Amino acid sequence: MRKLLTLAATVAIGLSALTVPAAAEETAAERGYRTLLTVPIGVRLMTEADFDRIWQVWPEPARSRAEKASPGERLQMTLARYGFQLTADRPGNLPQQFTADDKGNVSINCLACHGGPVEGKVTIGLGNSLINLRTFTDDLARYLAANGREPSPPPPKAPPFAEEPTRGLNNAWGAAISFMAMRDRDLNVTEAPQFPVKAPDELDIPVKTPPFWLSKRKTRYYYDAFIGKTHRDIMQFVFEYSVTPQQVAEMEPYFKDIFAWINSVQPPKYPGDIDRTAADRGRLVYLKNCASCHGTYSGEGSYPERVIPLDEIGTDPVRVHDFPVAFKRHLAEGWVGDYGAVALYPETGGYVAPPLDGIWANAPYLHNGSVPTMWDLLTPDARPAVWLRTDNGYDHTKMGLEVTRFTAVPDGVTPEDRRLYYRTALRGLSNAGHRYPATDLSEQEKTNLIEYLKTL
Ligand code: HEC
Ligand code: HEC
Repeated sequence: MRKLLTLAATVAIGLSALTVPAAAEETAAERGYRTLLTVPIGVRLMTEADFDRIWQVWPEPARSRAEKASPGERLQMTLARYGFQLTADRPGNLPQQFTADDKGNVSINCLACHGGPVEGKVTIGLGNSLINLRTFTDDLARYLAANGREPSPPPPKAPPFAEEPTRGLNNAWGAAISFMAMRDRDLNVTEAPQFPVKAPDELDIPVKTPPFWLSKRKTRYYYDAFIGKTHRDIMQFVFEYSVTPQQVAEMEPYFKDIFAWINSVQPPKYPGDIDRTAADRGRLVYLKNCASCHGTYSGEGSYPERVIPLDEIGTDPVRVHDFPVAFKRHLAEGWVGDYGAVALYPETGGYVAPPLDGIWANAPYLHNGSVPTMWDLLTPDARPAVWLRTDNGYDHTKMGLEVTRFTAVPDGVTPEDRRLYYRTALRGLSNAGHRYPATDLSEQEKTNLIEYLKTL
């Protein structure tokens, strides 16, 4: 994320005229999704031509392979390298992760992180578990430098934030916290930080992106449920240092539509056959061991939105423990929190137990995506320390990613390729905790429970 924003500063900043062509009888939610695909709401990053040529700076042998490939093959190689996807909802060769204006300027959009595939199929509202932001930003920096376009630095006193340690995770918070640090309550950009930031830890918060279809079940947003959900919460992405309060205000109506869309997204149905007898038995296992935290799913269902303290849940502490409380207060006391009107829970001390709708699609599991399958989640002592996924495979038995398990990254893997391996020993990436139920389930009970979870 860090380099991405520095790179954005190479191109004269200015958000394009925000026009969404009118379509007849469109709901706010429909308009919101169309806005995401057609209106550039982020700062400009590059041009469409740059995206077509970025392979020119790839390391060998990838570069030579791309040079010999047809344009179509080259596009597929580019998408695979960065974890981007085309979508049938938008014509052309630009992945859903970006939006272009009418001059061919490209900016990154919400679907960079909030649009992704399961089993190779783009799934609306799913977090992008394939995104490789660090490799993309490294390449783009080299490409721009090779073309004589040196990035201009961010504001001198803006706190610098960390880059992504691994594919699939992002440090969106590092960026959001740094942006907010440089704005007063009315979003005016300031010269000095508005609250103290304990760098580097408070600006190094790698997490996976949650799916949008859970939003409608919630009253509060984020993994620690720290703030009441509103359309202004989700505007933090546009607070890059160069954007003026006036531009933010002009964008607000679009975010009301995007918020309506987010709250209308439905979870995807499990695509395979479900053994109904096993699922019925699994439902009983679920009700006994899981429902008190994760809620129930028949009829309307009920969702308790419970926050479980860190020492009880035992999952990686970084997202809760190192997250700056001063940032939360500054956010809530200013424009985003409607000057204190939006509910704030500055120190929840734990993680919210999320709803499990569409959970089959949301692997890898936990807030840091450290556990590749549901079977691993239910078998804490056998979770892999290091794992490498396939891009499009799906493990229907264990329910989750198709992975190879390791005790350590194999010798000889390049620094760039190490990012493809999930390494649970890194900061923020522990796979500990969530040891439920307290007593082991039999293999049969686990199989039945997994079958039931496929129905949610
Ligand atoms: C760089 C990646 C990234 C981008 C770009 C991004 N998000 Fe997010 N988003 C995240 C992550 C990560 C979280 C979870 C953070 C947490 O809870 O700690 C999140 C959380 C959310 C949530 C709360 C979900 C919940 O259930 O609590 C909403 C809503 C949301 N984002 C909307 C948006 C919108 C709208 C945009 C575009 C304007 C956007 N995001 C851009 C990464 C991103
Ligand atoms: C005491 C409360 C509690 C119980 C009981 C519980 N969970 Fe959880 N669960 C949580 C919390 C809190 C999280 C979020 C932890 C995190 O992300 O670090 C979570 C996360 C999860 C996730 C990851 C969700 C995602 O999107 O990555 C799954 C899957 C899950 N639980 C399934 C279960 C199942 C199945 C059971 C029953 C065997 C169960 N849980 C029992 C509290 C609980």
